[in-house]
Amino acid sequence: MARLFIAIDLPEEIKSYLTSFRDAFSEMKRGCSWVRRENLHITLKFLGEVEEKKVGAITGRLEKINLSNFSLALNKFCFFPNESDMRVFWMDFIDEKPLKILSKEINNTLTEFKEDHPFKDHLTLARIKSLSALEKNNWIKKTTDVVTEKKQFIVQEFILYRSTLSREGPQYEVLQRFKLTK
Ligand code: 2AM
Repeated sequence: MARLFIAIDLPEEIKSYLTSFRDAFSEMKRGCSWVRRENLHITLKFLGEVEEKKVGAITGRLEKINLSNFSLALNKFCFFPNESDMRVFWMDFIDEKPLKILSKEINNTLTEFKEDHPFKDHLTLARIKSLSALEKNNWIKKTTDVVTEKKQFIVQEFILYRSTLSREGPQYEVLQRFKLTK
């Protein structure tokens, strides 16, 4: 079995920018785990455990997706599900419409993989485990103090990844790239 997901990788410049914030949040290091720089991505669809023999058919169908590349711009820090119940620290985008279109196209292509929730565009920066009420308040304050730039980048492809879980955290391996070249 292979644990699979479909995501967008980010340009190195964007990854550097996103990791540059960590120092500002350094006192919250203990109670959260930051996504490792090389693992930063935008998840489009999580497929979960898939039989190896089915991977070829999945990539064959994804290859038929025919969409153009698009630009995306970082927007602001957010919390999932919300500020009073902080579990994921993430960033949203200014114009997420093309991401939604791509996600819809992938869902229409892989209908046997049902989604628990409707697609929500997001870029996970950290997963919050255990923080005190004071630490949570400090974090929220920091997110308003740190000024984010609306950095723009072009999405030219999406990627089918295999995720291998280990004690050191997940390892993501590119199985196939799908160019957006309509
Ligand atoms: P996220 O971090 O962007 O929220 C690879 O495991 C990616 O798939 C994770 O980074 C996570 O996306 C998403 N993911 C992991 N487990 C998931 C699950 N059970 N349901 C939905 N998405 C999941």
